[in-house]
Formats: sequence, C-alpha cells, structure tokens
Amino acid sequence: MATSMVKLAFLSITVFISIFPSASTSAGHDKGFLQCFQTMLGVDNTTSGVIFTKTSSSYEPILKSSIRNARFLDTSVPKPNLIVTPHNLFHIQVALFCSKKSGLQVRIRSGGHDYEGLSYVSHVPFIIIDLFNLRSITINMDEETAWVESGATLGELYYAIEKKSEVHGFPAGSCSTVGVGGHLSGGGFGTIFRKYGLASDNIIDAQIINVNGKILNRTLMGEDLFWAIRGGGGSSFGVITAWKIKLVPVPSKVATFDVSRTLDQGATTLFHKWQTIAPKLPKELFLHTVVGVTNSASEEGGKTVVVSFSGLYLGTPENLLPLMQNSFAELGLRRDNFTEMTWIQSVLYFAGFSKDESLEVLLRRNQTSPSFKAKSDYVKEPIPLHGLEGLWKMLLLENPPPFIFTPYGGIMSEISESETPFPHRKGNLYGIQYSVNLVSNEEAPKHIEWLRRLHAYLAPYVSKFPRQAYLNYRDLDLGVNRGNSSYENGKSWGLKYFNCNFERLARVKAEVDPGNFFRDEQSIPPL
Ligand SMILES: Cc1cc2nc3c(=O)[nH]c(=O)nc-3n(C[C@H](O)[C@H](O)[C@H](O)COP(=O)(O)OP(=O)(O)OC[C@H]3O[C@@H](n4cnc5c(N)ncnc54)[C@H](O)[C@@H]3O)c2cc1C
Ligand SMILES: *[C@@H]1O[C@H](CO)[C@@H](O)[C@H](O)[C@H]1NC(C)=O
Ligand SMILES: *[C@@H]1O[C@H](CO)[C@@H](O)[C@H](O)[C@H]1NC(C)=O
Ligand SMILES: *[C@@H]1O[C@H](CO)[C@@H](O)[C@H](O)[C@H]1NC(C)=O
Ligand SMILES: *[C@@H]1O[C@H](CO)[C@@H](O)[C@H](O)[C@H]1NC(C)=O
Ligand SMILES: *[C@@H]1O[C@H](CO)[C@@H](O)[C@H](O)[C@H]1NC(C)=O
Repeated sequence: MATSMVKLAFLSITVFISIFPSASTSAGHDKGFLQCFQTMLGVDNTTSGVIFTKTSSSYEPILKSSIRNARFLDTSVPKPNLIVTPHNLFHIQVALFCSKKSGLQVRIRSGGHDYEGLSYVSHVPFIIIDLFNLRSITINMDEETAWVESGATLGELYYAIEKKSEVHGFPAGSCSTVGVGGHLSGGGFGTIFRKYGLASDNIIDAQIINVNGKILNRTLMGEDLFWAIRGGGGSSFGVITAWKIKLVPVPSKVATFDVSRTLDQGATTLFHKWQTIAPKLPKELFLHTVVGVTNSASEEGGKTVVVSFSGLYLGTPENLLPLMQNSFAELGLRRDNFTEMTWIQSVLYFAGFSKDESLEVLLRRNQTSPSFKAKSDYVKEPIPLHGLEGLWKMLLLENPPPFIFTPYGGIMSEISESETPFPHRKGNLYGIQYSVNLVSNEEAPKHIEWLRRLHAYLAPYVSKFPRQAYLNYRDLDLGVNRGNSSYENGKSWGLKYFNCNFERLARVKAEVDPGNFFRDEQSIPPL
C-alpha cells in the first residue's frame, strides 16, 4: 500500500505532463508501452495477468470474451496491440499514462455490448482497457444505495441486490450480460423505467480517472462532468471505474403477460391503438410490443407479421385486470393471461430465461451473439394505418429479428430534457429498435441496404429536426468524427443523440480533455 501511494504521488506530480508520441512501428509502440508499464509498476511487481500481448495464449479468448456483435469477430477487423485487464485503479492510471507516452489510442470496455464495437475496435494502433476484473458490488441497505464497479454486468447487479433484499431493484436494461460501465453512461432503460427513469437518472455519485490520471468523485469532478457522464457516454471523458446508484422499491410480487396477434387476428388495429395507449398507462405498467415475422398457413406467401404485447406490472393481477379492461379492452386480456412472480423472476423472464431458472444464470458472462446492424428512432405522433401496412410489407420481405417498440411517458415525461444529456423525454410516444442479422459477409451488404431503406421509409413517421436516436443503440451511419474532430461535423450525430445537450457536452469535453485523448468515431468533439 505504501509503495503504491508513493508511486501515485510520483505519477500525478512528475509524469502526467503531455508527451507527444513520435510515429513508430506497431512493435515499437508495444515495446514502449510494456517498458513504461513495467517501470511504473516497479521491479517488485508483475504485469502477468494484467497485460496480454498478441503472442499470449490468453489474448484471443479475452478479446473475444465480450464481443457481443459477431460482426466484429471477422479476421479483417483490426485488433488491439495489447489488452490491459486492470486489477486495481493504479493499473488504469499507468495504462493511460503509458498509452499517451507510446502513442497508442485507448478503448475502454466494460460489457462489450457496443453495437458498433467501439469499445474494442479502432483503426489506429490501440490498446483495450478491459474492466472485467473490477466488478465488485457493495450494497448499503440502510442508505438504499450501492457502489457498483464498471466491469460488473446488469445480471451481477440484479443478483447482488436480490441477495440483500427481495423488495429492491434497479431500473436498468433487460439483457443480463450488458456492462454497467457503458450502459449507465449512455442512459439505460428497462421494464421499470416508466416508474423510475433511466439507469443514468439513478446515479448519485461516480468515480472516474481523468486524462491526467486523477481519480475523481462527484465533488472533485464537479457537476458539469458528473452531468456529462450520465447519458453522454463515458468514452469521451475518462475511465469511469464505479457508480454509486440509488436502489428502488419493488413489490414482493409483480405480474407479467405476453399475448400475440397476427395480421389475421387484427394485429394492425391493435398496434395502432397501442401507440397512444401505452405511453399514457400508469407508471407501474410497462407494455411494450415486439414485432416479428412468423409462418402462417392462411396468409399469402406462407408468412405473416406477429405483434406480441408484453407487459410487466408492479402490482397484482387483480388490480391489473380492470386496468387493462378499461384502457385496452381490445386486447381481450383475461385473468389467466397473467403470471405472478417475484421481481427477480421477472428479471430472468425479460432476460430471456425461464422465470424458474436458477438465479445463478444471471452471473453468466458468456453468451452467443449474432452478427447484426441496428438502428433506433423515436415516434411522437402515432404512425397511421397505411404507414404500418407499408412497414409490415417491408418486414415480410426481409424477415428480420423482432423489432422492439418501447413506450415512454410516465416519469420520463416529467424529467426535463436538459436534466441529463439523454434528451428523449416529454413528447415521445415510444422508441423503436430495429436490426438485421448479417449471416454471411456476402449477404451482409444486402441486409444493411434493406435496413437503410427502412430507415428512409420511416422518415415521415418519426421525430424530425433532428431525427433522434439512442446513444446506447450506436449507429455509425449517423456520422463519424473525421480527422481532427470538429464540433460542426459532430453535430450530424451529436444532435440526434443529445439534441440541445450536445453543445454543453462539447464544452465539458473541452474543459476536461482539451487534447481529445479519449476519442472514437463518435466521441464528443471539444468546443
Ligand atoms: C444484447 C443486448 C441487449 C441490450 N439491451 C438493452 C436494454 O435492455 N436497454 C438499454 O438501454 N440498452 C440495451 N442495450 C444497449 C447497451 O445499453 C449498450 O450497448 C451499452 O453501451 C453497453 O454497455 P457495455 O459496457 O456492455 O458496452 P461496451 O461496449 O463495453 O461500452 C459501450 C461504450 O461505453 C464506453 N465505456 C464502457 N465502459 C466504460 C467506462 N468504464 N468508462 C468510460 N467509458 C466506458 C465504451 O468505450 C463504449 O464507447 C443492449 C445491447 C445488447 C448488445
Ligand atoms: C503491485 O502494485 C499494486 C498497486 O500498487 C499492488 O496493489 C499489488 O499488491 C502489487 N503486487 C505485487 C506482486 O507486488
Ligand atoms: C470526494 O473525495 C474527496 C477527497 O478525497 C473527499 O474529501 C470527499 O468527501 C469525497 N466526496 C464524497 C461525496 O465522497
Ligand atoms: C389468454 O387467456 C385466454 C382465456 O384463457 C386464452 O384462450 C388465451 O389463449 C390466452 N392468451 C395467451 C396469449 O395466453
Ligand atoms: C456459458 O457457461 C455456462 C456455464 O459454464 C454453460 O452452461 C453455457 O452453455 C455457456 N453458454 C454459452 C452461450 O456459451
Ligand atoms: C483541430 O482543430 C482545432 C479547431 O479548429 C484547432 O484549434 C486545432 O489546432 C486542430 N488540431 C490539429 C491537431 O489539427
């Protein structure tokens, strides 16, 4: 401990002056980095288990361990010169210092779910700082708060909360392998966000290591930076090492339902109604729709569109039934369409497991991942029937993975647009996530082309000026930083993700990282 303190002081006083990297070969970068790292750590210490070079047998398994879009497993995708897997904060400080010194870019990875692989792919020589070893979760039940390290997954967080209390939860996403580091810095919504807001709305403190290697908490980083990392994406500002979050109360039992209708069964009119009903339902009820293509004996072409109306209610079926009959009688829900379960069972259920699965599946970090390209949109006026019919026609042509329509409203309409960088609040009926699977390299362009055509098709029906999108569903089609990142260029995607908050993000960026060290294709340009 004593040596580490001495080294820390040494780091912050003498070494964190900017050293401009000179161009050199890739091997030169690596050697420089390794030597630097070893020197900073001291002879009594070891880089074994912390740094993995391309020659290490663990390099490939670690790199692949959290690639959650198989598109980026392709051999043509550039790989990091080195992977650093810090065991403590000092390792992160040293990794930042040495990558600056040796001219390597840094990519920060927590759960690896970035849709465009930005946490582990770059086109210049780079290293990955992968935080999977830093994933402790400390819960304070008296305060109803928790400190969660960035490398933890949502599954690990939900599991840890359940072990302390069955009547507490956290309003974050459904997929259990998603990382806390990326998810909370980009927003993060799930089945109780109409009641409690986004994951990022429930952060009360954070720990970040800035470009100078300083470890900052909320007080030390100041309210501008603390604002920026709650929805503006972490990767532009520093390495977020932990979040302090507010736990939220959940009932001991919740109710779920999932009913499907095909076109024959009136799916189009039901969906049309859903658009205005779902955002106005009580906050305790989350009713999203998942739209896919299924086989049909009766319809032309042997295929039909199927809409599933799937819900979670923070209450009992007895209270939910009259509520549904009053607000959405057309759906024809009956008492035996509801399943009662505990909150944590609903977490399993919405993560794609059976509600009766052992809770330990939430701790699994491995998962098979498809190769995909995705997009998002926000809808402010209901899509008219003819618009829906055109959409279904396109779906039947492509047979894509199910589209997900997420209702807003509830508390989301009560939080101001500038409260955090996430601007999609009042006035949104719902968000859409749509994607295509890219089964083979040969077929990929055709499917991506279809997705872009669909994006064009939806233009009249979705948000305009700007056409908004969700940062955590990253889409490089919206624009990328070119050369020297400029604010003007960044507007092409910055306004879509952040709307009026983009300018403040760019000002914070200029303050905390004026040299633009933390950068990627869609990092915030300094203004
Ligand atoms: C299968 C799947 C299901 C999903 N479900 C949902 C959902 O239900 N709700 C929802 O809102 N979103 C969902 N998402 C999107 C998800 O929220 C984002 O992809 C999120 O950014 C992932 O975080 P990560 O840590 O896993 O990803 P990473 O790829 O590790 O990181 C994503 C971005 O954040 C940066 N970053 C990561 N960690 C840090 C850190 N510690 N400090 C600074 N920057 C950091 C990375 O550099 C990168 O730019 C889902 C994604 C997938 C693939
Ligand atoms: C290496 O240094 C770190 C940080 O100072 C310390 O936590 C760790 O115990 C040291 N390991 C060894 C083997 O000395
Ligand atoms: C932040 O860190 C400073 C310096 O270590 C400390 O004095 C302060 O109490 C911390 N703030 C919080 C909210 O923990
Ligand atoms: C809903 O309940 C009714 C009546 O029991 C039943 O016929 C129908 O199949 C149920 N629907 C679903 C999707 O479970
Ligand atoms: C993940 O690991 C578990 C436990 O080792 C195993 O049962 C499961 O099949 C694995 N899943 C995948 C997708 O590899
Ligand atoms: C990048 O652009 C900014 C603003 O136009 C300018 O001040 C800066 O010198 C440029 N940096 C480089 C490396 O070109």
